[in-house]
Amino acid sequence: MKKALDMAGRLSVIDPPIFSFAGVRECNHILTCISIHQPPSPTYELACLLLEIGLRRSFISTNGQYHELLVQTSSSSVQCPNEVNHHLASLNTNGYSTDRISESDLLCIKTVLGSYPLLAQYERQSRVETGLYRSELYKTPPEELKIPATRWFYSQRALALLKPMLLRVLGKQIEAIQSYINTKDPHITVNGWISVGHKSQSNLSKSEDAQIFHYDMDGVSFVKIFIYLTDVLQIGQGPHQFVQYSHKGIHHQQVNSHLISSCPHSRVPDKFTHLFYADAVSHFGPKGTVILEDTRGLHRGFPLEYGAYREIIVMTISNTPRKLLRERLMKIYSKC
Ligand SMILES: [Fe+2]
Repeated sequence: MKKALDMAGRLSVIDPPIFSFAGVRECNHILTCISIHQPPSPTYELACLLLEIGLRRSFISTNGQYHELLVQTSSSSVQCPNEVNHHLASLNTNGYSTDRISESDLLCIKTVLGSYPLLAQYERQSRVETGLYRSELYKTPPEELKIPATRWFYSQRALALLKPMLLRVLGKQIEAIQSYINTKDPHITVNGWISVGHKSQSNLSKSEDAQIFHYDMDGVSFVKIFIYLTDVLQIGQGPHQFVQYSHKGIHHQQVNSHLISSCPHSRVPDKFTHLFYADAVSHFGPKGTVILEDTRGLHRGFPLEYGAYREIIVMTISNTPRKLLRERLMKIYSKC
């Protein structure tokens, strides 16, 4: 299965003619089968592959209209509370909105994260346990780290502990997002990591660290919440950047023709994003800054300067995440 999904990622970049049939029609067929609990005609692995490619290609080839239609027809309309209506309006217009969490909530988050060792990931390897705690990472110069990773992930146990607190602290913002993605029952995941600025960083590493412009396709409709746990006040501190108005995908078809073919994920060089969209906005802000963003729009984390650290929590609030769609497919097939 993993092999099939890895292949999907690569195929969506190099786009060989053999897979050019995977588009709106196939995606629609599989989504329809899932909704009526009937097995699609292809095998399970091929159905997952078609879904993976089809979701991205349907978004691109219809300028986002296909996904918009699915969101509008998949559930009843969800009202946005008045106090966070500005987030909904800004998400719709700009593709993002910003907010803050309190100092005390921030302290609580850091305390939990500091109690568990970090995991490292580099050079296309899986995440590995390091035994290194957050405070120790800061005390060690980047070149003296035993693992030369540029991203250090928080432990899943720490993130699981944090999740109920984050849901409470960001409850109103999540309600605005529920209205945006039109679901009363969102699927929410929590991730987070520390980015470390090394003296040099390869293009592959930048690609894997999501530091080159790209658009996410985590499901049919989703919004990510980013929380800065460190100050991001200058460009060297690695601000999250977003290409305004790109969330509707109106020019993604043109952008898609400029993907970097050597990158394992769909990445676009800076010079091409300017051709089709407005300039990127850099989200500067003190620790505790919250960014709500429709990351189907083009975005990246700006590469950090040497010796800089940026800590971030990323929550994904989704209507129909790919993982869930694959699980539903698996259940349907297992009953055959
Ligand atoms: Fe992303």
